[in-house]
Parts: sequence; C-alpha cells; structure tokens
Amino acid sequence: MMSVYSSTVQTARSYYNSKNADNFYFKVWGGEFIHVGIYEKPGESIAVASQRTIEKIASCLKLNADTKVLEIGSGYGGSARYLARTFGCMVDCLNLSEVHNERNRAFNREQSLEHKVKVIDGNFEEMPFADAQYDIVSSQDALLHSGDKESVLKEAFRVLKSGGEFIFVDLMQTENCPEGALQPILDRIMLDSMASMEYYQATAEKVGFQTVQVLDLTSNLVEHYRRVLEEIEANYGEMLEICDQDYIDKMRVGLQHWVDGGNNGYLSWGIMQFRKP
Ligand SMILES: C[S@@+](CC[C@H](N)C(=O)[O-])C[C@H]1O[C@@H](n2cnc3c(N)ncnc32)[C@H](O)[C@@H]1O
Repeated sequence: MMSVYSSTVQTARSYYNSKNADNFYFKVWGGEFIHVGIYEKPGESIAVASQRTIEKIASCLKLNADTKVLEIGSGYGGSARYLARTFGCMVDCLNLSEVHNERNRAFNREQSLEHKVKVIDGNFEEMPFADAQYDIVSSQDALLHSGDKESVLKEAFRVLKSGGEFIFVDLMQTENCPEGALQPILDRIMLDSMASMEYYQATAEKVGFQTVQVLDLTSNLVEHYRRVLEEIEANYGEMLEICDQDYIDKMRVGLQHWVDGGNNGYLSWGIMQFRKP
C-alpha cells in the first residue's frame, strides 16, 4: 500500500532513496551506520567510532533476549544488528527509505539475523504499531529530519510499555544559536529549525516521559564531520565513480557548515534518555 507522507517526510525519503546519497552513506560514512561516532583515539576509523555510539547507548540500558526494541529511522540497521547480536534482543526497524530497508534486510540475511531483526517500511511520526508493544525505542541521528518532533515523542510514548525507555542520540541546535546562523544547514536538510536538548526534554516531559539523563557528547560532532570531510578529500577521484560531482561538492560544503556550526557552539549532539512511568 502506498503511504501519503507530508512534504518534509517525503523530502527525507527521496533524499535517502537517491543513488548519490545511498552510494555515499553506504561506501563512505560508516559501513552499516549513518550517525556520528564517538572518537577515543586519533586516526580511528569512522566505522569503529560509529559502532561505539550504539555501544554507549546500549550501556545506558538493561538489555537481554527478552527485550523488545524498536529502532526508528534505522538506516542500514547496523545498530539493530549490534543489539540483536550482542544481547539477543528482538529488534523491529522502522524506516522511511525503501533503499535503506532493502540493504538492512540483505545485511540481516548475510549475518543470519533475520529471525531477530524485522524491517518495516514507515514513518516514525505515525508509527504503524499498536500501543504498549516495546521495552525500548531507540534512534540515532534521525529525528532531526522530522518537521513534527512532538508527534515522534508522542508516538514513542504510545508504543512503549509502562517502564519502557526512549533513548536517542541526535544532532541539535543550542539555545543560544543566533537566528539565521544555521540557515545553510537547515536549507540542506530542508527544515525550518532544529530542536535543542532543552526542547526535547521539555516536550518529552509534556507528553508524559520522565527524564533519565541528558548526555552532552558534542565534541564528537566536529571530529566526525571533519573525518568524513577528510575521507572525501583523500578519495575524491574514486568518489566521482560512485556519486555525481555536484553531489560530492555540495556535500563537502555541507560538511564544512556542520564543522563550523559545531566550532561556533551553535550545534550539539548527545544522548537523551526518557522513561515512560
Ligand atoms: C542519518 S540516517 C541514520 C540511520 C540510522 N539511525 C543509523 O544511525 O545508522 C537517518 C535515517 O532516518 C530515516 N528517516 C528520516 N525521516 C524518517 C521518518 N519520518 N520516518 C522514518 N524514518 C525516517 C532515513 O530514511 C534514514 O535512514
């Protein structure tokens, strides 16, 4: 059945389904992950740092083979497989991009995790699930694409069991960010605004969550975008074999905006964890 999506949701879907974006994220970003990594040592690979992000998230939770997890905006499913493989959790992946979902299913088959990781096409602003199904809802660097973040928080609350937790890491703006300072970034992700940590916490509490923790990990944001940029510069020629030059050149400019926004103190990145009473 074809779903009808809002224009913001449709923009994210078309972007992530495009050949340029898929080739870029699949081959350059982090392999099975498309989120900011946590960097501990100089020269560390993007993939290693990216896996550390989901390890950090997992370390905040109590997970075992009975835990039912919903990953929203699940990309290629690297985080879902990490949780399934490491803790035996059952993980449902909800994601908008059919191209990402196909890669996710292929990885699950290759890694014999099909019985643990299920992939569902859909929008996290209107989750196609009954109430109180999950112990954990988790997400990495996906909520920024939503034009209706309050609905995402309400939906996460609705599908969680009582005592369940919503944990996400995301790219955000700081409260002191001057008007217009992030315009080039907003233009690129085609949104009017990015939420702040304060916004998420206030809105999560408004919809009924209790705050467990807010963990600011912003220093990794600049390092991650700088590393991806470095990767492009070092492999520019090869990159042109898999992506259009215009896409790569715009990506270079775009990544520099993220680095500048981070260095100027206008962006933040961190883990937010909430509990449904
Ligand atoms: C930056 S990628 C992160 C992917 C994954 N969480 C990871 O860390 O590897 C953002 C993902 O969010 C998905 N996404 C964006 N808007 C969405 C929406 N409204 N509903 C479901 N998925 C969405 C995209 O399709 C994409 O896979």
